[in-house]
Amino acid sequence: MSLGLIPEPRSVLEFEGSLDLGAGGFVRGTGGLEGAAALAASWMNEALALRGSAARLRASASERAGAVPLLSFVADPSLPAEDYRLEIGPEGAVARASSREGAVHAASTLRQLVLSEGAVLPALRIEDGPRFAWRGAMLDCARNFFRPEFIERFIDLMALHKLNRFHWHLTDDQAWRLEIASHPEITKLGSRRRDLRYPSWVRYNEGSYSREDARRLVAYAAERGIVVVPEIETPGHVLALLASHPELSCRGAAAEGGAFAPDDRYGIFEDILCAGSDSVFDLLGEVYDEVASIFPGPWVHAGGDEALKGRWNSCPRCRSRMEAEGLGDAELLQGWFMDKVAAMLAARGKRMIGWDEILDGAREGAPASADVIVMSWRGAAGGIEAAREGYDAVMCPQTKACYLDHKHLDLAEEPGNIGVCTVEDSYGFDPVPAELSREEAAHILGGQGNIWTEFMYFGRQVEYMAFPRLCALSEVFWSPSETRDFASFERRMGKHGLRLDQLGVNRYRGPFRAIN
Ligand code: ACM
Ligand code: ZN
Repeated sequence: MSLGLIPEPRSVLEFEGSLDLGAGGFVRGTGGLEGAAALAASWMNEALALRGSAARLRASASERAGAVPLLSFVADPSLPAEDYRLEIGPEGAVARASSREGAVHAASTLRQLVLSEGAVLPALRIEDGPRFAWRGAMLDCARNFFRPEFIERFIDLMALHKLNRFHWHLTDDQAWRLEIASHPEITKLGSRRRDLRYPSWVRYNEGSYSREDARRLVAYAAERGIVVVPEIETPGHVLALLASHPELSCRGAAAEGGAFAPDDRYGIFEDILCAGSDSVFDLLGEVYDEVASIFPGPWVHAGGDEALKGRWNSCPRCRSRMEAEGLGDAELLQGWFMDKVAAMLAARGKRMIGWDEILDGAREGAPASADVIVMSWRGAAGGIEAAREGYDAVMCPQTKACYLDHKHLDLAEEPGNIGVCTVEDSYGFDPVPAELSREEAAHILGGQGNIWTEFMYFGRQVEYMAFPRLCALSEVFWSPSETRDFASFERRMGKHGLRLDQLGVNRYRGPFRAIN
């Protein structure tokens, strides 16, 4: 397809003729689409400038009566929520959508067109809309701190690919990055550590996000049709929290006096939140109060992965909790813990998301009472089990699909040693496991690419690992599965790669397939 759009639209018809933006003009949005029209104008102006055109578009609701917009955004309630229609002809362009999100997708398509075609756009008609509602990308800002300016850029590049869920991994063993006004000690002691991987000078991996930073990012994302999903890890991956609250560990008072610090090593650590301590839930409640007030979206991710049970098994408080609640083992105690967290979040109007381990303790008699979402990362099994048990699931298996910290090829040049996932592997992923019935498959909300940053210190490294695999995943999550075609994707990436170059994206340029 000569226009090389990614993700590929459902239908594109090209006609004779073109629309010349060279003389500039105005963009009008009506019926709630004013903001999307303004975004389209700013994206197209950026693209025109990058293409060397002096033409500029103005977003305006107040042109004189009778003036004809070059581009108009028109509300069309008959369209599904995220769908859009785009018609470009010699006299102008019209985008139709029933929602801001749909209109933003039309703006994103226009941005891609101007980035690759310049000021002269081909006459065409596009009908388009997503296959999945959940099209996510996760960025780990705990292992490495990324400034809000980079996160804005990342969110903007997500919007270029019609991705709509930014999963913000904010806390882990190595850092807690979200400032909590009622508990300033958490980031004071939890957002800074000596990073021994930095060469030649002592470097502190340091930084946190203020409430204002987070609110600004939430608004920036919302403008682009993207919901921010914050993740606060529990009950494991919490050393950075224990740095200021050692009493919340099973070792309790015995561990006070500086036994915990944000860890410079990576992996899975023994010390987790004590499930027998009521103070744990008091503190989490205060954290969730603030999280709920900062993030207006419907979801909060509560972690749940890789929680070792050794401490719980030997902790008197955890053992009496198991006894009191009739829980036969520590797995069930985790089921109980996550259930309680889900209820606390539900009381604050939020639906809990958890990594697929949340099913392990739920299976044998302590089902999560709330309507939770399972993020399937240890392969597809968690998502299959979730869908069969009636939970909604988001698919992000680490096995050759969605873990973008894995190397592109099994060559020595790339950093990290975690695994290999070629661009072709990501493109070949299907979020709906073949073994699910149609009813079960309806529980698969979509998928997500995850960027863990143990080995990424700079935004440019994140870009290198994300692109073009995130381009491939965007097509997996958006476009109809019937037209999936890797050869077509590779061809279109030729043109789309030039768009990324225009935007200064530091993309991977090596082979898309395994070499053997
Ligand atoms: C994970 O990768 N531990 C969710
Ligand atoms: Zn305990």
